[in-house]
Amino acid sequence: MFGYHSAGPKVRLTSDRMVLRLVYERDAHRLAEYYAENREFLKPWEPVRDESHCYPSGWQARLGLINEMQKQGVAYYFMLLDPEENHVRGVVNFSHLLRGSFHACYVGYSLGEKWQGQGLMYEALQSLIRYMQRQQRVHRIMANYMPHNHRSGKLLERLGFEREGYAKDYLMIDGKWQDHVLMALTDPQWLPPR
Ligand SMILES: CC(C)(COP(=O)(O)OP(=O)(O)OC[C@H]1O[C@@H](n2cnc3c(N)ncnc32)[C@H](O)[C@@H]1OP(=O)(O)O)[C@@H](O)C(=O)NCCC(=O)NCCS
Repeated sequence: MFGYHSAGPKVRLTSDRMVLRLVYERDAHRLAEYYAENREFLKPWEPVRDESHCYPSGWQARLGLINEMQKQGVAYYFMLLDPEENHVRGVVNFSHLLRGSFHACYVGYSLGEKWQGQGLMYEALQSLIRYMQRQQRVHRIMANYMPHNHRSGKLLERLGFEREGYAKDYLMIDGKWQDHVLMALTDPQWLPPR
């Protein structure tokens, strides 16, 4: 299931209704299609995205950088695909992975408008968090949501994340500094990286 390749790590997991796969350089079209289709829907929940998110050419450059980060083990960007692996239903990014005495990262996620409210993000995150804990040996996964993003808050609670604090004007979302609730999940069965 897990393998490594000179071009970068390759990870492909399956859940009941999806294929969860690490992005690679040939995914530019699929990702551009996802961001173009969901541009208005995602706008209130995300940083301002420049136009290049909606074009394969913009993603080609970005995927080069992501691939480099994945090779270095500091970030893992997953796509949630339909079982035939043609269309992106959502994305999950584990970023800023720090080792030392921390072994921690952040998680960010979004689901396309037509896939909301079916339990798909919960299904994907259950598998991906298990992968990050068991294979990448991450001890702490942090996630932050705006207080009015009830869906995201509910999802994190259902996954076992606990509230750790509240940060004023924490992230620039949709062009405004927005307060966030700070959440984290730690792994009591953590083992040091091999
Ligand atoms: C946050 C977000 C990923 C949550 O997606 P979601 O589909 O609501 O999340 P889940 O996978 O947990 O699904 C739960 C919903 O599916 C419903 N559901 C249907 N079938 C289900 C099943 N088999 N299992 C679980 N839930 C199911 C639940 O009742 C629940 O609906 P409700 O919120 O109306 O009660 C999504 O709303 C999103 O993409 N938002 C925009 C981007 C964003 O906010 N990102 C996070 C920034 S912090």
